[in-house]
Amino acid sequence: MPTPTADSLPVYPAGTVGGAPLEQALAEIQRLKQERNAVILAHNYQIAAIQDLADFVGDSLGLSLQAQRTEAEEIVFCGVHFMAETAAILCPDKRVLIPDVEAGCSLADSITAEQLRAWKAEHPGAVAVVYVNCTADVKAEADYCCTSANALKLVQSIPPDKEILFAPDMFLGDYLRTNTDRRIRVWMGECHVHAGIRPRHVDKMWEEHPDAELLIHPECGCVSQVMWHLSQGDFPEDRTHILSTAGMVSAAVDSDATEFLVATETGIIHQMQQRQPDKTFLPIKADAECEFMKMITLDKLLHTLRTGVHEVTVDPDIAERARRSIERMVAVT
Ligand code: 13P
Ligand code: SF4
Repeated sequence: MPTPTADSLPVYPAGTVGGAPLEQALAEIQRLKQERNAVILAHNYQIAAIQDLADFVGDSLGLSLQAQRTEAEEIVFCGVHFMAETAAILCPDKRVLIPDVEAGCSLADSITAEQLRAWKAEHPGAVAVVYVNCTADVKAEADYCCTSANALKLVQSIPPDKEILFAPDMFLGDYLRTNTDRRIRVWMGECHVHAGIRPRHVDKMWEEHPDAELLIHPECGCVSQVMWHLSQGDFPEDRTHILSTAGMVSAAVDSDATEFLVATETGIIHQMQQRQPDKTFLPIKADAECEFMKMITLDKLLHTLRTGVHEVTVDPDIAERARRSIERMVAVT
């Protein structure tokens, strides 16, 4: 077996995980996790094998809360970089590791701290609310941070006389503008995976499955049209749900329906199917896959546990300033 080095992932023989047969590798992951006093947190879009071995699988808010609550000394974050960074800011006394430091997010890349500063300067007196899908230095410029699970509640908690600058997701921003009576200016950023889920994909699937229930993430490119259809009474309100990924999983568990059309990254279908094996979950767009989420593999997870790479750290000054908006985020559950 190649010797693992901290900086690079060795090339392992095909058909192995980290150079070992699968069962042996899974046992090693569990053993190393105990030895390191680590907890494995995984997002709902991770590959099935990672979801199955994680200690907790959830959405951005749930993962942040778990990071805060864990007694483990080390958090191995199977998700994308901004999620690990958020955990590092929330838990300065823990080591946060990510199996692939290149696992980014196209939405997080759609605004920089400098752009947010310039936008704020154009609107003095407004408060800046950022979606958690952004870098730590963007969070450091914001007054509030939110996730898809608490965005509505958080925006409603802001003093009503305040104008709101919302960044970076335009579809979630439109969802907030439509569902509150707040003055909200929206940054025109998007996630390439969710933006690609268009109204025509929803129309086609619902035509083919007229009795199904629709579960939709507010980052989707179809969300504005879905809201318009709801307002016109064209879509049944009781069978159309706009939710975070964990909210979508819970809605499927709580519903009596047996068939669901799922508008988000397809990794979530595994989580839904695990919890509800007798129900049918169909992706609205079968190729809606986040290549960044899929960069976390069993090989890389095992490498992280063997070597301790890659620690995610945040500049203390940025972390200090970002903590205020992140703490406001985790306070709204
Ligand atoms: P959730 O917080 O709803 O899981 O969304 C995170 C994300 O990256 C969506 O693309
Ligand atoms: Fe970012 Fe989109 Fe991937 Fe979520 S699905 S991590 S928003 S690129």
